[in-house]
Amino acid sequence: MVLAVLAGAWAECPSGGAISPCTCKEVMPGRTMECSAITSSSQLQKVFSTDMPSPDFQFFQIVKLSGRCSLEKIPANVFGNEDTMLELTFADANKMTSYPFESLGDMHALYKFFLSNTQIDTITHFGPAPNLTMVSVTGSQVTTIESGAFEDLGRLTRLDLHDNPLTSIEDGWFSSSTSESWDIYLDGCDISEISPGAFSGTLPSGVFLQNNKFTSIPEATFRPLVENMEKRAEAGELSHYVDLEGNPLVCDCDIKWIATSETLLPFVRNAVCTNGDVDGTNIADLPADFFASC
Ligand SMILES: *[C@@H]1O[C@H](CO)[C@@H](O)[C@H](O)[C@H]1NC(C)=O
Repeated sequence: MVLAVLAGAWAECPSGGAISPCTCKEVMPGRTMECSAITSSSQLQKVFSTDMPSPDFQFFQIVKLSGRCSLEKIPANVFGNEDTMLELTFADANKMTSYPFESLGDMHALYKFFLSNTQIDTITHFGPAPNLTMVSVTGSQVTTIESGAFEDLGRLTRLDLHDNPLTSIEDGWFSSSTSESWDIYLDGCDISEISPGAFSGTLPSGVFLQNNKFTSIPEATFRPLVENMEKRAEAGELSHYVDLEGNPLVCDCDIKWIATSETLLPFVRNAVCTNGDVDGTNIADLPADFFASC
């Protein structure tokens, strides 16, 4: 039994020809399959259905230093052994229009999932990958997220969707059951609105909203978020803040609830007014009588 396990751990990469155009390298921290030269999903399927002496990979990468990943689709369950893959990376995949997110639930060791610069416009439900901690789908065309898409990721700590054309965040999109402290990155997304029901379950410890289109800080959406951050900080747990740098905020009576709350204000950072006399003023530095007529 012990011998078999050791033999598995020491088995070498499959020979080059069999998995061409992918390459396999064995370096710490594990065995990496690198497939930047793959041009079609059937080619990918063929590589992974080759008879390999030890079909266990810890890392799978399609990353090109020059040029792009030209895959359009990834077949579900293409990667064979589902208990060893730690990271899946498809960088600059500018032809990819969808991903079988549900099938990630079968990857029991998967820790990090990374897609960038794809044509994906909809994020569907992620299968319950028990160890999936970091999820990135950035620089893509995402405008819609299935309600509860990330809800079954019990160990999520970082969700990065920056630089997608998300204009409005709707109910259920970011409901979470993670047992960890988690942060969400939505910077550079054109967002002007987050529905009060967008977040539920485990609320995030940090919400990064730099360079969006918020003109206000609506209480119904943001109070539960910053109250949760304050509560966590008070309990000595990891807690960050809501970052609103680079949003066209109009400061008026609508922001009184946060600007005048000594306990909650520290959990909103870089919120700067862009209107009238207070143009350029952080909401934390508004004159004492600013809300006198509210
Ligand atoms: C999931 O992560 C835990 C803790 O990091 C680790 O002990 C466990 O082996 C991982 N599960 C799999 C299937 O790799």
